[in-house]
Amino acid sequence: MNLLEKKAIEVLNKNWKGSFSIPCENLYPFQWFWDSGLIAIGFAHFDMSKAEKEIETLLDAQWENGFIPHIIFHTETDSYFPGADFHLSKLHPQASKKYKTTGMTQPPVTGFVLQEIYRISKDKKATLQFIEGVIDKVYFNHEYFYANRDPKDEGLVYIYHNWESGTDNSPIWDDIWETMNPPEYTFERRDTTHVDASERPTKREYDHYLHIIEIAKKHNYNDKKIAEFSPFLIQDPLFNAMLIKSNESLIELYQLLGNNEDKIRTLKHWQNKSIKSFNDKLFDSDVGVYTHYDLRNERVLSYISSSSFSPLFAGIPNKDRAAGIIKVMMDKFGKDDQYLCASFDPSNERFNPKKYWRGPVWVNLNWMLCKGLYRYEKNDLANRMKNDTVEIVEKNGFYEYFDSRREIHEEGKAGYGGNNFSWSAALLIDLMNS
Ligand code: SER
Repeated sequence: MNLLEKKAIEVLNKNWKGSFSIPCENLYPFQWFWDSGLIAIGFAHFDMSKAEKEIETLLDAQWENGFIPHIIFHTETDSYFPGADFHLSKLHPQASKKYKTTGMTQPPVTGFVLQEIYRISKDKKATLQFIEGVIDKVYFNHEYFYANRDPKDEGLVYIYHNWESGTDNSPIWDDIWETMNPPEYTFERRDTTHVDASERPTKREYDHYLHIIEIAKKHNYNDKKIAEFSPFLIQDPLFNAMLIKSNESLIELYQLLGNNEDKIRTLKHWQNKSIKSFNDKLFDSDVGVYTHYDLRNERVLSYISSSSFSPLFAGIPNKDRAAGIIKVMMDKFGKDDQYLCASFDPSNERFNPKKYWRGPVWVNLNWMLCKGLYRYEKNDLANRMKNDTVEIVEKNGFYEYFDSRREIHEEGKAGYGGNNFSWSAALLIDLMNS
């Protein structure tokens, strides 16, 4: 085992809190949905019991309607804003009674995470037994999405908050902020006491974030009311690609387990419908990639981001379309002076290579894109994606995100946001061992 991998294991063990992991110290002191799933992939390589416990704790916070919240507030601390008392999940009648959580979700990674854990496992029998004990909860979560987040019955689910996307302050959302005029809230940010403000969203952006939550709270987090009143209602390609990839994994895992014909049939039905709509509706021929659809204002948001390429991971495009998408990725994001893969189009005026989801490289997206490139047998590019990812971590440390400009890395100060960040460590372990 090399030194980098040893350090990655140290990061994960340090962020392990007994039954779940935090994304990193100070900045993110609770359990986050998609972090948790991706972290479990890292643990699966060296401590399967932690990988399993991570997933069990996440699913233990599932609501009675199948919803899985984006943050589970395991501890009381005022070092994070907005905390449990702001989100007030108990407003929803089916919210978890055991844990305080948020009333929003995050990209549904759990299905494919279970399959990754199975792939990594050296004791397939034991791991399949674990999967058998939790898989129905993940299926129930997908049932929740298709029943409650797809008002037009298209096979595409919406997100109602930018924090549900995972790509919190993407420049794409600027177009939504232009349709809103929230009050100037008074509150104490905590993130900017831990991390340089130039790397985080602005105060005015937070006003928008809080305002959408206030609207959802006014309606007790009722999905139908949210679909009617939220100013933010988006069909996001990353989010839907994660759901589709997880459908595929659930089908394969249920087939391995046997005796689940009804669920497999339903999953295949969702899957076919979702993939067709995804290709029909979210492929944007103006820019040659998949883009976001604004369901509230019925318009395409024609911006290229790393999310535009995530459908490769889920096998959504056919071979020709995949080749076209990859060409756009290399032309715009893969120039010699750039590390793969910036989170937002480096040629767009809204690009900012230091600011969170407005440009920096993220390890989780790189991991997905790397797997997607292998899936389409673009092995050279997949190897570049992998090598770029390992190199930026090696040069800077296990940061949350990284500058996409190669020159900035010369002094090893191109890592931003939280340090000793769990999914950067977890997915690096996986990349180095697959
Ligand atoms: N990532 C968000 C934050 O920065 C919440 O999910 O606080």
